[in-house]
Amino acid sequence: MNKQFTLPALALGCWPLAGMTRTGVTRQAAKETVAAAIDHGITHLDTAYCYGENGESERAIAQAIKGRRNGISIASKCGIHWQAGKRQAINGHPNRLIQEVKESLLRLQVDHLDLLYLHTPDPNTPVQESAGALRQLLDEGVIQSAGLSNGNTEDCKLFAEICPLTACQRHFNMLQQEIRSELLPYCRSKEIAMVAYWPLMKGLLTGRMKRNQVFPKTDSRHKYPMFSGDEYQKNLTFVETIQAIATQLDVSLSSLVLAWTMGQNGITTVLFGATSAEQVTANAKALHCQLDHDTILAINQAVQRRGTIIGSRRV
Ligand SMILES: NC(=O)c1ccc[n+]([C@@H]2O[C@H](COP(=O)([O-])OP(=O)(O)OC[C@H]3O[C@@H](n4cnc5c(N)ncnc54)[C@H](OP(=O)(O)O)[C@@H]3O)[C@@H](O)[C@H]2O)c1
Repeated sequence: MNKQFTLPALALGCWPLAGMTRTGVTRQAAKETVAAAIDHGITHLDTAYCYGENGESERAIAQAIKGRRNGISIASKCGIHWQAGKRQAINGHPNRLIQEVKESLLRLQVDHLDLLYLHTPDPNTPVQESAGALRQLLDEGVIQSAGLSNGNTEDCKLFAEICPLTACQRHFNMLQQEIRSELLPYCRSKEIAMVAYWPLMKGLLTGRMKRNQVFPKTDSRHKYPMFSGDEYQKNLTFVETIQAIATQLDVSLSSLVLAWTMGQNGITTVLFGATSAEQVTANAKALHCQLDHDTILAINQAVQRRGTIIGSRRV
């Protein structure tokens, strides 16, 4: 029987480590980022087969956890890979998934994964077929638990018919709360963990971005509507409001944002990305940030004033 896997409230997302949000993240910085997370007690690491064209994220994790694997849990994902021309391709065929997991284990230098997600449902492969591959890996003990990322409620139901579903992963932050209408209540009712990605809205909710920010081509944020034009300016106005709340409480904005996200009903785990030990140290303060009723009310009122945003290419 597979051991029950417990997800923590706060975890490190390892996409930016591979230079995927912006280029220029060195392997040394990646290692230091992971090491800082572990030092702060953030011991769940989230990665994927496609984080880096050659699995740079998984390889950096392997280097960073050498000699300290005990107590660390690793989640990876399968079903998206890179094609020539830096194009991502979705392939949820069982053979492909099993091959990717074998490679992930080699890159990570581990003999099993604590959690494996199907990265996204493949429109050309029924989700039940993909789930069959994860079920096989579960039965073989290669993974301890299975998850579905970027799926909707119907995908979850179909997946769970074939393979026990431990966790769902979707984007969720102060300004992007689409999962509240259906998926979040569904997961709560079925006791499926909800792992929230983009809690910092790819850095926007840390307060570091300027009104006249120019995102170079080497920074993938230039592709997202929430970082351009009028939407971006409105988002920054929202950030100014919550920055004032953080200043009043004498806490960093990122810790306030993460603490609010961790406190949302049904959100099991908040996955933040980072590219330096300093960022991790600032974010880890969320673990000790208690928000009182009035603070939460003030944040929620600011969210309401901002209203629905045009945020993501992927809904
Ligand atoms: N399942 C999926 O399809 C999916 C999709 C996206 C993400 N994820 C997972 O979720 C994790 C979180 O998402 P994310 O990393 O894209 O976005 P995020 O956590 O919302 O934002 C991370 C970015 O914020 C900036 N940052 C973090 N802490 C900071 C601080 N204290 N001060 C200033 N800037 C700070 C960094 O920007 P710089 O890079 O500029 O330093 C970092 O790359 C990912 O790493 C990944 O593991 C999963």
